[in-house]
Amino acid sequence: MKFFIDSADLNEIKEAEAMGVLDGVTTNPSLCMKVGVTDFDKHIKEICSIVDGDVSAEVVSTKYEEILEEGRRIAALADNVVVKVPLIKDGIKAIKTFTEEGIRTNCTLCFSPTQALIAAKAGATYISPFLGRLDDVSHDGMQLIEDIVTIYTNYGLQTEVLAASIRHPMHVVEAARIGADVCTMPLSVMEGLLKHPLTDNGLKRFLEDWDKLQRSLK
Ligand code: G3P
Repeated sequence: MKFFIDSADLNEIKEAEAMGVLDGVTTNPSLCMKVGVTDFDKHIKEICSIVDGDVSAEVVSTKYEEILEEGRRIAALADNVVVKVPLIKDGIKAIKTFTEEGIRTNCTLCFSPTQALIAAKAGATYISPFLGRLDDVSHDGMQLIEDIVTIYTNYGLQTEVLAASIRHPMHVVEAARIGADVCTMPLSVMEGLLKHPLTDNGLKRFLEDWDKLQRSLK
């Protein structure tokens, strides 16, 4: 499973990259707003230079021609940029055209298996089902991931399933069990994946015992 960080914060991205297990980045307009991005293109270029992996940058246009114009501009920013497009009719049309042009896409705001099937038929590189937001409204977000993985497997569809809107480590565990290709998560969740109190207690005891041994040898 690939790990992406869901953030536009350069410090968080650098921190995740330094862990050595980062495979990419996803951003969106809300994440850009959170860190007060002023020059979008410059910011995306900087993220692309930090990370050796795919960086999703989202269009804010909603009309076919405008999505194409904006997406082509974003695609030219760096070799590892992926154009993130919302799952609306004009977005699907644009993904089809981007696919024909060799521009890679991440189809975002997916909340149903039928949406995911359409995105894959249009040739999206990634599909982003938002599992946390489904859980928030009492739908089973993980069931959506499972349905998409099953459907894509049934037909050999190449679109990668990018589990998004991840809220806690168990989302990552379940998505991995189901076979999602990628999980994008906040830095706090990524750090949470490696934490265990028994590891901390065990290490503390090992180090104390080692100290005792050293003292006994003096
Ligand atoms: O990148 C999009 C997605 O991960 C958003 O997550 O937490 O805003 O639902 P969230």
